Amino acid sequence: MLILGIYLDNAATSFPKPQAVIQSMVDFMIENGCTSGRGAYEKAIEADSRIYQSRKAIARLFNFNDPKKVIFTSNVTESLNLAIKGILKKGDHVIVSSLEHNGVWRCVKTMERDLGIRISKIPCSAEGYTLARDLEKLIRENTALVVMTHASNVLGTIQPIAEIGQICRQYRIPFLVDAAQTAGAHYIDVVKDQIDLLAFTGHKSLLGPMGIGGLLINWEGDICPLKSGGTGGDSAYEYQPDYYPNKLETGTLNVPGIIGLHEGIKFIEKEGLDKIRKKDAELADYALARLKEVDDIILYGPQDSGKIIGVISFNLKSKACEQIAYELDQNFGIMIRAGLHCAPSAHQIIGTEKSGTCRIGIGYFNEKQDIDQLVEALKSISIN
Ligand code: ALA
Repeated sequence: MLILGIYLDNAATSFPKPQAVIQSMVDFMIENGCTSGRGAYEKAIEADSRIYQSRKAIARLFNFNDPKKVIFTSNVTESLNLAIKGILKKGDHVIVSSLEHNGVWRCVKTMERDLGIRISKIPCSAEGYTLARDLEKLIRENTALVVMTHASNVLGTIQPIAEIGQICRQYRIPFLVDAAQTAGAHYIDVVKDQIDLLAFTGHKSLLGPMGIGGLLINWEGDICPLKSGGTGGDSAYEYQPDYYPNKLETGTLNVPGIIGLHEGIKFIEKEGLDKIRKKDAELADYALARLKEVDDIILYGPQDSGKIIGVISFNLKSKACEQIAYELDQNFGIMIRAGLHCAPSAHQIIGTEKSGTCRIGIGYFNEKQDIDQLVEALKSISIN
């Protein structure tokens, strides 16, 4: 597999992709190329079937039994917007974690400003953990939604979603999980974890292409569509159909993206989530141990792979994070992300809301040598 440089930005998007992911999309574009849900000719029906197979694979991965309630979107941000804006109404109260990405945070803040919804943040520890029991104190009569990231994209910390899910069920409040960092990298079971709405993206640990994501709806309540338009059926009806998936899927779907995502899931199933999780944890532990060798490093978050996914934030006392990332790229061919990572709330917890952090995102195709080279490069950058 050709990789130019050392890629450690898998929290932003995974790279490289399995060859089968790329090949499936190319094959579809050459051999079929038809849209789904519209035509009745053979190739269009084949495209329909490929979409349904992909819905089924996603449902299976998250232990869900109703593929038609797996809604395709263009990314996790759209999935989160769809759920949040589709459920919350004027005067409602929403509870979010203290670690949310702007995909959630800007969405609820905009609704606070424009619709007068109320927001409560569940506090979290200095290490970046939410305690489930802190949720109960915040629940009000008008609490209409609880939203929580499964793992922080800044600190990697894995949140207690099963415990939160249980409390939400007890109070009959829908529970939306942002699985941007965990779908394909960590265990998610919508039944056991009592998740009502699962927002995911295809291009990170699910190993698919960019431009495809989804919302899994394990909930009977109403979600108002974000968009209205053609769904391929009931065309004389003047309103959006009220059955899934058409209610929330409007316009031509990203068929090649859905096919690529399906291949990514097949790859994950073939490798096995246990093996994927084990490798991620081993590399995270290895990185945490080796990064400590760099003299003026500050590591953020818990130093324990049992508590994080392979996302680690750090700074060097001697240089700004953007400068470090620049030097890693220009002088060593190592790609990491620097800054706030679109999640300013998480930085308030670790006191880096002004400086930002350097962040590595470990992926399934990284190896220990990548970490070794990063550490050697950081040692050199810290003294120069
Ligand atoms: N949200 C993505 C990240 O954390 C893009 O980098």
